[in-house]
Amino acid sequence: MDIAVIGAGHVGLVSAACLAAVGHPTRVLDIDETRIEQLRSGRSPFLEPGLDELLVWGLTHEQLSFHTDPSAALSQADLVFLCVDTPNDARGSVDLSAVVSATRTAVRHVKDGAVVVNRSTAPVGTAEYIRSILEEQRGDVVDVAVNPEFLAEGTAVRDFLAPDRIVVGVWHGGTADSLYAVYEPIITRRLPSMAGDDVHQRVAGGTELVPFLVSNPSTAELTKYAANAFLAVKISFINEIASIAEELGGDVTVIAHAVGLDRRIGPHFLRAGIGWGGSCFPKDILALQGMAETRGLAARMLRAANEVNAQQRHWVVQMLQRHLKTLVGRRVGLLGLTFKPNTDDLRNAPALEIAAELSHLNARIQAFDPVVKSLPPPFDQMIEVTEDAVAAARGAEALIVVTEWPEFGQLDLAALRSVMRGSLLVDGRNFVDPESARDAGFDYLGVGRVGTPAFSVKIREGATGSGGE
Ligand code: UDX
Repeated sequence: MDIAVIGAGHVGLVSAACLAAVGHPTRVLDIDETRIEQLRSGRSPFLEPGLDELLVWGLTHEQLSFHTDPSAALSQADLVFLCVDTPNDARGSVDLSAVVSATRTAVRHVKDGAVVVNRSTAPVGTAEYIRSILEEQRGDVVDVAVNPEFLAEGTAVRDFLAPDRIVVGVWHGGTADSLYAVYEPIITRRLPSMAGDDVHQRVAGGTELVPFLVSNPSTAELTKYAANAFLAVKISFINEIASIAEELGGDVTVIAHAVGLDRRIGPHFLRAGIGWGGSCFPKDILALQGMAETRGLAARMLRAANEVNAQQRHWVVQMLQRHLKTLVGRRVGLLGLTFKPNTDDLRNAPALEIAAELSHLNARIQAFDPVVKSLPPPFDQMIEVTEDAVAAARGAEALIVVTEWPEFGQLDLAALRSVMRGSLLVDGRNFVDPESARDAGFDYLGVGRVGTPAFSVKIREGATGSGGE
C-alpha cells in the first residue's frame, strides 16, 4: 500500500516510521519546513525510544520521505492518514481547524479511490464532517475511515508495532479490507527485524492474531475517548483510595498490588501518585465531558476523575505546608520535570503545576531532569534547572520526586540528604524505597502511605506479579 501521513507530530511520525518499517512506502507531509528538514536527516524532534532508528532505516531504504509539497506527498497515496493536533479550549470544545485544513489539502491532491483515514483524536461526528468536505469537492470517489491511535509516549513504537488491538471505523467493508492490508504484518506479528527488543519481547511467545475491530465511524471515535477516560478514572480511583489510606492507615502500594492481582481488575494503571498529565488524558477527558454535557448528560465520573487529579497536585503542596509550616523563602528541590519518564514532553506536567503553586507561595524551586535542560516562560523564571540531582537538593528544605525516571532508582540518597538543609522527602510517585530513604536520614512521605509503619507494608518473598505498569 502507498501511504501518506499528514502531520509530523508524535502520532504522525511514529505511525509513518512504523508503517514504512513494515513494508509500505510512506510519505509525511507537514507545513513546518524546519521540522521536515530535521527529519530528512533522520533526527526526531522529540524523544521517543526506538523512533530515530526507524527513521534512519526508512530514509536509507527509501521507504520513508518527508515533504512540504502536498502534491508530492499525496498524489500517489492509497491511504492518507490525518495525524494533526486537536487542541481543546478550557471548556472542552475541540478545535478542529487543523483537521479541516488537512482534509482540504487532501481533497485537492488525492487520487480517485484513495481513503482519508482520521487518526487524530476528535469528537464523535468528525469523520462525518470530513466526509462532507470531501463529498462537496470530489463526490464519492474518496472514502473516509477512522483509525484511533493508542500510543503512549515513551512506548509508542512498541504500542504501534505490537498493539493490544487495532480499531477502525468505516462506512464500507472494502475500506476495512484496505486498512487490514495496511496492518497485516502487525496483525500477523511479522515484525521488522530492526524494531527494538521491547517490541519483540512484547510479541514473543504470542501466536494469536492482534484483534482487528471494525465498527462504524462514531463507535471508533468514541472508543478512543472511552479508553483514555477509563485509564484516567482508574488512576484517579487508586488516588482516592490513597487519600483514604492516608487518613485511616494503610499502604496504597500494597492495596494496589493486592487489588490488581484480581484478574477482573488487572495490575496496570493502579500506581497512586501526583496524578495524570501529558498531552492526552487532560485534553481527552475534558473533551468527552464536553460532548456528554452538550447532550445534557452529567458525566459525573469524568468530572470526579478530574477533581481527584487536581487534588493530587495540591497534595504535594499540602504536605510541604504541613511539615515546613510556611513556604515563604523555602528552597524546594524537584526530581523530574517531564510528565512521565522516557519523554521530553512537558505538556500538563505535574512538575510545572506544582512549581506554579509553590512559586505563588513564594518558595524557591530548583529542579533536575535527565532530559529537560531549559524551560519555556514563565517557568524559566520560577524554576532553576540544575545539572544534577545533588544540585537540585543543595540547600533545600524538601525534595520532591515528581517523575519516576529509572535513573532516580540509583540515586545516592545519603549524598542528597547531606547537601540539604531539611530532611523531608515527598515521593510523589511512590518510587523510592521508604526504608532506604529513612536509613539515609530522610523523613519520607509517600502518596497514600503516610505514617504507615514499615513492618506492615512488606510483601513476602515469593509473591508474584507487580504493583502496576
Ligand atoms: C495516554 C494513553 O496511555 C495512550 O493510549 C493514548 O494514546 C495517549 O494517552 P500517555 O499520555 O503518553 O498515553 O501516557 P500514559 O503512560 O498513559 O500516562 C498518562 C499519565 O498517567 C502520566 O502522567 C502518568 O504518570 C500517569 N499514570 C499512569 C499514573 O499516575 N499512574 C499509573 O498507574 C499510570
